Amino acid sequence: MSRIIAVTSQKGGVGKTTTAINLSAYLALAGAKVLLVDLDPQSNATSGMGLEGPERSHLPDILEGRLSWERACRSTPIEGLRCLPSSLHLQVPIDERQARGTGVDLLREAWTSDEAALDFVILDCPPSLGPMTDLALGLADSVLIPVQCEYFAMEGLAQVLARIRQAEQELQRTIELQGLVLTLYSPETDLCHDVAREVKQFFPQETLETPILRDSTLAEATSHGKPISLYDTRSPGAWSYMNLAKEILKHESQTRTRA
Ligand SMILES: Nc1ncnc2c1ncn2[C@@H]1O[C@H](COP(=O)(O)OP(=O)(O)OP(=O)(O)O)[C@@H](O)[C@H]1O
Ligand SMILES: [Mg+2]
Repeated sequence: MSRIIAVTSQKGGVGKTTTAINLSAYLALAGAKVLLVDLDPQSNATSGMGLEGPERSHLPDILEGRLSWERACRSTPIEGLRCLPSSLHLQVPIDERQARGTGVDLLREAWTSDEAALDFVILDCPPSLGPMTDLALGLADSVLIPVQCEYFAMEGLAQVLARIRQAEQELQRTIELQGLVLTLYSPETDLCHDVAREVKQFFPQETLETPILRDSTLAEATSHGKPISLYDTRSPGAWSYMNLAKEILKHESQTRTRA
């Protein structure tokens, strides 16, 4: 049984892709079988993993049953981590009909089946609430929302949460909130503490304990097409994502024990 987590926020540049790449890497390094899915036509997760996407997006073929997701997957230098790349064509490759079609349920079933042998599927979403985010919510068990420790951090959060509730009604099932993760965290600034306090005040249960420190090594690693675990394991960014993976693994094992 796998857990499908959509990393989403309609705000741009809050650390969705950096989180999707590095969380996937550390989950795999902890022994989990992980699939990182790039759902953003910007293809940042694909290039950030050092991969080149296909000429044309494979998503429509996968959703229409013409191509298996396994065949579209690429291996990565990290054992246990595969990636379903996006293509660099910037237009959204699917429409609303495909984002809510039966292909979505079939893909979700395939990923959660025993044959797929996946522990986690991590979906990197674009900064919009369009068809790709609808698709991600249709596939996801839970949503991880990066919240940048900056002015207006809370802005837009209500909108994503409302979109999740709406998707739950359309899909007739629950989508859990995996958590809000504080990103680009600079402990030396007052603003950062103020934002963290405000977010925790509004979302005491939902805010994850691990903040992701602001660390330019993370940006460097991505520009070299590597997760931070293959670039600089001693950097603050590496520690942050290793701890985030641990926190999520702990939460999952507690949830499974209770179930
Ligand atoms: N913790 C961090 N410390 C320093 N730089 C970071 C950190 N997280 C992300 N960045 C950098 O900030 C920029 C935006 O990050 P990222 O691409 O992950 O955000 P995003 O939410 O996926 O953006 P988009 O909405 O465009 O998809 C990138 O240049 C990235 O390298
Ligand atoms: Mg991104």
